[in-house]
This record gives sequence, structure tokens and C-alpha cells, in this order.
Amino acid sequence: MLRRELLRGLAVAAALTGMAPLAAAQDTIKIGLILPMTGPFASTGRQIEAAVKLYMAENGATVAGKKIEIIVKDDTNVADVTKRLAQEMVVNDGVKILAGFGLTPLALAAAPISAQAKVPQIVMAAGTSIITERSPYIVRTSFTLPQKASVIGDWAAKNGLKKVFSIVTDFAPGHDAEKWFKESFAKAGGVMAGEARVPIANPDFAPFLQRAADAKPDAIFVFVPSGQGAIFTKQYVERGLDRSGIKLVATGDLTDDDILAKYGDSVLGVITAGPYSAAHLSAKNKAYVAAFGKANAGMRPNFMSVGGYDGMHVIYEALKKTNGNADGDALLAAMKGLAFESPRGPVSIDAGTRDITQTIYLRKVEKADGELYNVEFGAVENVRDPAKP
Ligand code: PHB
Repeated sequence: MLRRELLRGLAVAAALTGMAPLAAAQDTIKIGLILPMTGPFASTGRQIEAAVKLYMAENGATVAGKKIEIIVKDDTNVADVTKRLAQEMVVNDGVKILAGFGLTPLALAAAPISAQAKVPQIVMAAGTSIITERSPYIVRTSFTLPQKASVIGDWAAKNGLKKVFSIVTDFAPGHDAEKWFKESFAKAGGVMAGEARVPIANPDFAPFLQRAADAKPDAIFVFVPSGQGAIFTKQYVERGLDRSGIKLVATGDLTDDDILAKYGDSVLGVITAGPYSAAHLSAKNKAYVAAFGKANAGMRPNFMSVGGYDGMHVIYEALKKTNGNADGDALLAAMKGLAFESPRGPVSIDAGTRDITQTIYLRKVEKADGELYNVEFGAVENVRDPAKP
């Protein structure tokens, strides 16, 4: 009798302990956030992780009755690691959404996992146009290089910079930037004075800056990935180019808010095109910059951070629409066409391309309250990725 009761008790206990994690699993949606948290691009990881945490602190860790659990992993900017982490998270950890992806090779490495497992992959940083075409489950909340480069190319030719030398980092987003700068610049009547591509690892810009100076252009156009702007700027100043009369135009990646305040006055007057400035004038952005700084020891949010913040918004809004159903097809359907106000301004997810449509601002580095900012002075609204039909 006693034995039978004991056995029944054990069976109930086993069933309960067996069931408890199941019930919890059904109420929790895990998001795998894969970012470069160490190495030369750690600022992108730090900015996006901070923005994701801020979004959750502001909006709660539960949406549509589901608890949201973020698992952050450092891929150390190695594509094979990104791929392995994405696979492990989906297969072993039961992650329902992959997010992050600090650089193009890292986003591309995870795309086959997203496509095969039908898991949404929210690209919060990487900006090469073709990324979204590598998995039908990719949604991008950052930008594309063609969006930014085409706007600054057009602006340059129309504002007296007729002869421009292009310097870009030699990897996919740099190639996109070069191509789309040249295209829009030529269309508006500009002529290239030359072009150079600089290796991404341990970049030495000096010889390329010399070639640019020798070509005597009106301006140099630059794309370097977020994290390398300080090296470029240092070498630009060392060669005296800030005093040469040759203007500097760039995609906003160069005058990244994460480090802009530390550049010094040599970058005053640099003109860039980009989707986000910490100085963007809106109530939403003012609140964002204040909350971000408060939660992160005064850190200034940069353009990568809003990719993370808006990526979380896209996830939350999609889960609300699906009533908490995290099925990949259901989430993708819910994400397509979403439109909302970001700290950067109005944005939407293009239903056809799954890329972000947004305002690209023209900005000039100016001093405000004793600190350098990208001060917006112009805007091109509703910019889709021009590289897509
Ligand atoms: C990219 O790898 O796609 C990338 C990285 C940093 C940037 C822009 C693009 O600032």
C-alpha cells in the first residue's frame, strides 16, 4: 500500500517536473542576440545591446502574454562563430528569433540557418544591400549603404563638389557605398577624381590619402565601418588634409555619435548623409538620448543603437499582431509593412524587400554645448534601398 502510494507520488512528481519546463517554454520566447562584443567592432555590439535592454526596460519583458528572454552571444566578429552560435541557439536553446549581426559577413553567415529553420533574422546593423535576399526570413532595421551613399553623392554634385576622390573600406558595404556614390554623383553632373579601397584589417589610410591629395579633388568621399572612423580621422589630420581646402563628405558611419565627441575640431564642417543623429530634433529622440545616457553612464546612442531599438519594436509589434505566435511565417507576415516613429524619424518595413524605408538626413558636424554633433540641415524622405527594384 505504502509502496504503491509512494510510486504514484513519484510518478506525479516526475510528471510535474517534466511538465514544468514545458509550460514555461511555451510561455517564453527566446531571442538570440548575436553581436561583436569584443574586438575592433565592439562598439556596435555595446550600442545594440544597450538599446535592446532599454527597449525592454521601457516596454516590459512580456508581450502578448509571452515572456521575452534575450540570450546575448559574442561572435567576436568571426563569421564561422556567428554561424555556429545561430545554429546552437536555434537547435539547442529553442530560440525563435535571431537578431543583431554587426557586420555584413556575420549577417550572411547566419542567413542559411534562418532560411532552413524558418527563423526570423532581424539584421540590426549590417548594411550591404544583398543581405536581405539571402533568407526570406530576414528583416533589416538598420540601413543600406546605397541609401546613404546615393544621397550624399547627389548632394555633393549639386553643391559645388564637382570632382571627388572616393576612399572606402574593401568589403561588401564599402563596395556598395562606392558604387552608389559614383552613380548618383555622376547622374548629378559630378566627375570622379579617382578611387581607392582600403583593407578592413589594421587599415592604413595614409597612402590612399596621399593619392587622393595628389589628384587635387574638390572633396574626398569616405566610407569606413563604425569603429574605424577614429583611425581615418587621425591619419587625415596627420597629413594636414583638414587644412588643405579639400572637403570631406561621407556616409554617417564616419562621424559616428559613439566617438564623435572625441574627434576634436578637425572634423568640424564634415558633411555626411545618414539615418540617425543623436541631435535629431524630435520629442521621441530627446527622450531616447536621455534614457540611453541615463542607463549607460552617459553613453551617447549612435546610428547602430537605433537599429537595435527599432528591431525590438518590430519584434514586439509583430508578436502583438500574432497574439504571441512565434511561428516564422506568421511573424514575417506581421513584420512586413509595419510603420512607426523611431527616434530617427518615421520608418517602415518594405513589404516586398523586408528592408527599412527611412529618411536620410544631410548633416554637418558642428559644436553644440561644447560637444561635436551631426546637426541635420536637410532630409530626403521615404528612402527605400535604391539597389532593389
Ligand atoms: C557592414 O558590415 O555591413 C557595416 C558595418 C559597419 C558600418 C556599416 C556597415 O558602419
